Amino acid sequence: MVSIRNATPRDLQRIFEIERLAFPHPWSLESFRRELALPFSRLITAEADQQNADAENEGNLAGFLCRWLIAEECHILNVAVHPEMRRMGIAAQLMAEAIAESKAKKIELVTLEVRRSNFAARNLYRKFNFEDRRLRRNYYGLGEDAIVMELTLETDLTNHK
Ligand SMILES: CC(C)(COP(=O)(O)OP(=O)(O)OC[C@H]1O[C@@H](n2cnc3c(N)ncnc32)[C@H](O)[C@@H]1OP(=O)(O)O)[C@@H](O)C(=O)NCCC(=O)NCCS
Repeated sequence: MVSIRNATPRDLQRIFEIERLAFPHPWSLESFRRELALPFSRLITAEADQQNADAENEGNLAGFLCRWLIAEECHILNVAVHPEMRRMGIAAQLMAEAIAESKAKKIELVTLEVRRSNFAARNLYRKFNFEDRRLRRNYYGLGEDAIVMELTLETDLTNHK
C-alpha cells in the first residue's frame, strides 16, 4: 500500500536522493525547495508502507511528482520512483492523483514532455491515455528528442450552455 500526500520541507532531501538516482541531469535541491514555495506548483509524494520500506529510510518516501497548474492546464514537470520501488504501481498512483485533481478543478488539458528513448515513462503515460502530439528535436541535447504528450479531459458540458 502507498499513501499519497503533499511534500513538506522535511521530504526534500529524500526527493533529491530519488531525483539523483533517476536522472543524469537532476534538478538541484534548491529547485525542489523553490517548487514548494510556488503557488501554482504542487509536489506530490508517495510513501510506501513499512513492510516495503528500507529500515534506514526515514519516512519511506518512494516517489514524487511535480505539477504546475497554469493557464487552465496541468503540466507534469517531473515524476520519479526510487529504483528499488519500481514496477509496483507507485508512479501510476502519483499520475492518478494529478489527473484526479485536474478533473476536480475542471482542467481540460494535461501536458508533459518525455525523452523519446524513455519507454518506461512513455508506457506509463500511454496507460493513462496520453497521446503523442509533437516532437521537439534535440530538446534534451543533441540526439535526445522530446515528445510532447497530452491528455484531454472530458468537461461537463452542462456548465457551457
Ligand atoms: C518511469 C517511472 C517513473 C515509472 O515508475 P514506476 O513506479 O516503476 O511505474 P509503475 O509501476 O506505476 O508502472 C505503471 C506503468 O508504467 C509502465 N512502465 C513502468 N515501468 C516500465 C518499464 N520499465 N518498462 C515498460 N513499461 C513500464 C507500464 O505500463 C506500467 O504498467 P504495468 O505495470 O501495468 O505494465 C520510473 O521508471 C522512474 O522513476 N524512471 C526514472 C525517471 C523518469 O524517467 N521519469 C519520467 C520522466 S518524463
